[in-house]
Amino acid sequence: MNDKIEAAGIKHGVSNPKFASREGCWQGSSGMSNVVLAKQTVEDGEVVHNKGRSLNGNASVLDPVACEVILRFFMPTKGRTVYNPFGGGVQFGFVAGSYGYKYISSEIRQNQCDANNKICSDFPGVKWIKSDSSIYMPEQKSDLVFTCPPYYKVEEYLDYDGAIPDGEINSMPSYDEFRDTLFKGYKQAITSMNDNCFFVVITGDSRNKDGGYYGCEAEHELFFRDNGLHIYNKIIYLECEFTRLAQAKKTLDSRKFPKREQKILVFYKGDTSKISELYPKVGRL
Ligand SMILES: C[S@@+](CC[C@H](N)C(=O)[O-])C[C@H]1O[C@@H](n2cnc3c(N)ncnc32)[C@H](O)[C@@H]1O
Repeated sequence: MNDKIEAAGIKHGVSNPKFASREGCWQGSSGMSNVVLAKQTVEDGEVVHNKGRSLNGNASVLDPVACEVILRFFMPTKGRTVYNPFGGGVQFGFVAGSYGYKYISSEIRQNQCDANNKICSDFPGVKWIKSDSSIYMPEQKSDLVFTCPPYYKVEEYLDYDGAIPDGEINSMPSYDEFRDTLFKGYKQAITSMNDNCFFVVITGDSRNKDGGYYGCEAEHELFFRDNGLHIYNKIIYLECEFTRLAQAKKTLDSRKFPKREQKILVFYKGDTSKISELYPKVGRL
């Protein structure tokens, strides 16, 4: 799928399509991919350490295989439409379009919307709409909500002018404001869902200035439960086992164990006894 995204980028004039518009990430050249992609060479008898590529400042973009697995597991047999309240990169929309689904996404940055809409212009039902998801309401009901929202203060999201747009949640002054606006976006998305459908969130946690976690993953579970959804799966998503351990020496002295996993939290709106009737057999992946 990554090759197809690259080819669509060339066809529609978007350079570096897997990472388009994501140059502003704080991890920069010391980020994780440099550890993995670094090469040692021997020059004049000395070992020389060459840093790897920083992949657009190590922006978090989704693995298309994870997108495909999520679609195959959590889209009902008669489902047609995915909604994503915190759009980000092109990957989920591209995979959904390849499956013939409609994909609507709210994204606060115009540059990300423009790049993604160009890359996906061969999929007429796939659209990123520049909007603030805490007030945006999709016109059409959705059969699956998927999102990978910002993790508080982990990345920066910049628009064409190099500035953070108004309403961008990661830049809000306090974690409480971030969480409340994130959850307003979720609330709109829950309203947009048909009954007997899944809401899938890839999320994580980050630390406050005193070194403690905010507890964002746990707050997700309580929020969805309190809004009447079932907490249906808590999947551990291991993406970078080795690189996190390689970096651990920086944090171990303060007794912080590196967090190597994210969560794929799966919530369900409706009657769980209908799932095996309304969803296709998974078969072999
Ligand atoms: C973490 S990124 C998505 C990461 C995703 N894994 C990807 O592939 O890019 C979250 C996105 O939410 C967007 N965002 C932040 N605040 C928003 C808001 N209020 N409404 C809609 N999108 C918002 C950011 O611009 C960013 O592109």
